[in-house]
Amino acid sequence: MDQCHRTYFPATFYLLAGICLLLLTSPVNGWRPWPNQKPNTTDLLYSPSKKYEGSSDLIKLKYHMGPVLTANITVYPIWYGRWSKSQKRIIREFINSISAVDSKPPSVSGWWKTVQSYTDQTGANISGNVHIGAEKTDRSYSHGKSLTRLSIQSVIKSAVTASTTPPLPINSKSGVYLLLTCDDVYVENFCQDVCGFHYFTFPSIVGYTLPYAWVGNSGKLCPSVCAYPFSVPDYMGRGFKAVKSPNNDVGVDGMISVIAHEIAELSTNPLVNAWYAGDDPIFPVEIGDLCEGIYGSGGGGSYTGQMLNGEDGATYNMNGIRRKFLVQWVWNHVVNYCTGPNALDQ
Ligand SMILES: *[C@@H]1O[C@H](CO)[C@@H](O)[C@H](O)[C@H]1NC(C)=O
Ligand SMILES: *[C@@H]1O[C@H](CO)[C@@H](O)[C@H](O)[C@H]1NC(C)=O
Ligand SMILES: *[C@@H]1O[C@H](CO)[C@@H](O)[C@H](O)[C@H]1NC(C)=O
Repeated sequence: MDQCHRTYFPATFYLLAGICLLLLTSPVNGWRPWPNQKPNTTDLLYSPSKKYEGSSDLIKLKYHMGPVLTANITVYPIWYGRWSKSQKRIIREFINSISAVDSKPPSVSGWWKTVQSYTDQTGANISGNVHIGAEKTDRSYSHGKSLTRLSIQSVIKSAVTASTTPPLPINSKSGVYLLLTCDDVYVENFCQDVCGFHYFTFPSIVGYTLPYAWVGNSGKLCPSVCAYPFSVPDYMGRGFKAVKSPNNDVGVDGMISVIAHEIAELSTNPLVNAWYAGDDPIFPVEIGDLCEGIYGSGGGGSYTGQMLNGEDGATYNMNGIRRKFLVQWVWNHVVNYCTGPNALDQ
């Protein structure tokens, strides 16, 4: 397993990596709302508002000298399956909100500030400029309704080598290829312990090394796993009601936080040799992983932290372009705990 993802990548590595990938397609970054545990109901009911927010002296997030995304970031969405216009609009507006500095605080651009505080060896910060580039639509499910980690790379290959429609540009320096699968598509390990992940494509499969992320719409398959707290699992009992989602679409509103998680991690660790904690680059613990399930002050363990309530009764924690969103916090390496724009003490 170790040989598959060593820190440095000589040319032959890619061939080996391709073969390894065929043999074991292990997730690099599973995302789930609850870190390593089922929520403890007692905890949720009586959680004291302590300053937890993931803080720990034991967490050693380190920089491993690899590149990060310091140039203007372009996100290339690949809409796989049947997406409605309104669903696309919610996701596009979230991505465009990242650099929309005029949103009312607490804002998505305020949330991105924590990500911007990460630098590379030269001291250059992660870019504050994130925008949407060319898009691809794959309404005919060209690689089927059940994708593996390998076939995901093939979907991206199709998008960057298309000949009957314009291919997506090749942008290995500051591109984020974002594969979004609609609610009737299953992806390997989806719903078990994974709601999304990021990695980079192999030249042996795609022809280029391109950082990419996948996020699935869990609306039909497992909203209580991947769209919590807009949907709540049965085992949590009657005391827990799902909260209303800010854009009236449980699956898509649930995806927003996962998309945020993956873009933040991809920007700080695009080739899985930059910012992560832990000794094992096969299972790096990244800036989003450290704050899974934390959306506000006091969050941690199994408590989401303090969120906000809109006039329409929806729950959210930040404002973007024309909309509200609920987005998990990310690890702040300066203060050594998770931070977000809706923190009560800032
Ligand atoms: C849940 O958390 C409470 C308080 O933190 C603790 O007393 C209780 O034992 C926990 N229950 C389980 C099942 O872990
Ligand atoms: C990056 O984005 C800023 C703001 O939109 C723009 O002024 C600048 O020219 C861009 N830089 C490059 C290299 O594209
Ligand atoms: C760049 O990173 C440094 C170090 O974390 C931080 O102090 C600074 O505020 C960051 N700059 C921006 C524009 O985020």
